[in-house]
Amino acid sequence: MNLKGRSFLTLKDFTPDEIMYLIDLAAELKAKKKSGITGESLKGKNIALIFEKPSTRTRCAFTVACIDEGGHPEYLGKDDIQLGHKESIEDTARVLGRMFDGIEFRGFKHETVEKLASYSGVPVWNGLTDTYHPTQILADFLTLKEQFGTLSGLHLVYAGDGRNNMANSLMIGSSKLGLHFTILAPKVLWPEDSLVATCKTYAQESGGSITFSEDLDAVKGADAIYTDVWCSMGEEALASERVALLKPYQVNQQLMDKTGKPETIFLHCLPAVKGNEITEDVFEKHADVIFDEAENRMHTIKAVMVATLGK
Ligand code: CP
Repeated sequence: MNLKGRSFLTLKDFTPDEIMYLIDLAAELKAKKKSGITGESLKGKNIALIFEKPSTRTRCAFTVACIDEGGHPEYLGKDDIQLGHKESIEDTARVLGRMFDGIEFRGFKHETVEKLASYSGVPVWNGLTDTYHPTQILADFLTLKEQFGTLSGLHLVYAGDGRNNMANSLMIGSSKLGLHFTILAPKVLWPEDSLVATCKTYAQESGGSITFSEDLDAVKGADAIYTDVWCSMGEEALASERVALLKPYQVNQQLMDKTGKPETIFLHCLPAVKGNEITEDVFEKHADVIFDEAENRMHTIKAVMVATLGK
């Protein structure tokens, strides 16, 4: 599989085989790291890490993964560069592309990461925008594969804000890889019709499915239940309205029991607001898998950089 020179902006741009290749490469790199072997795939490469929004996992994952493979990461926070203020995104992209070999971007508008990719001339990786969070999905799916040995045919339920970047990206990834994906959310928070239509075509090809429900019984038979914060970054003003709307969809032991399967796992991209989208007891019961998922951010991000830029 040759992904050299490609940007990683959304899973929509990647075939199911390419996504599986990245997940399998991440598993290989993880096994190597566990046995003390790091690589030199990014030796001599300089990587720009642009963060308009704060981050623990994504920033640390890109930094450690880059250094593990012999590269040099350079953190560029929102007040460090003139991206979109004092200088156009197009011009900053052309400057960074002359100096760096790859660029990670985390921020608000998806259009910004698209412009960086169009104008920089180097691979650009989406570390989260308001619309998509594709590197998170690779980590989630590596974790599911570690737990179940397979992805195709799994029933994954996402409970919560069904139109945020996580719900969008899980829907794309699930429909491409043949999972049965359910969004459990109030109708006003279901995803955009056009993205749903696109994902339905992916699901037809993969043998997966996408369903939407306001009924908590939709978790019946789920292999995994997933949730995310009820208020994404930038939506803080909506907090009290969101809590009222989503309280019935909290992942608590009662909801976990409704799956009818004691082996159902729980996933969360983190950070979690315990007492809102997830109760403390369910979180702690599933903490081992949740923190495997967090660790897998690093192995999967390493796979993306190695595959698209590495030697
Ligand atoms: N899940 C995730 O993206 O975590 P950070 O916001 O800490 O990067």
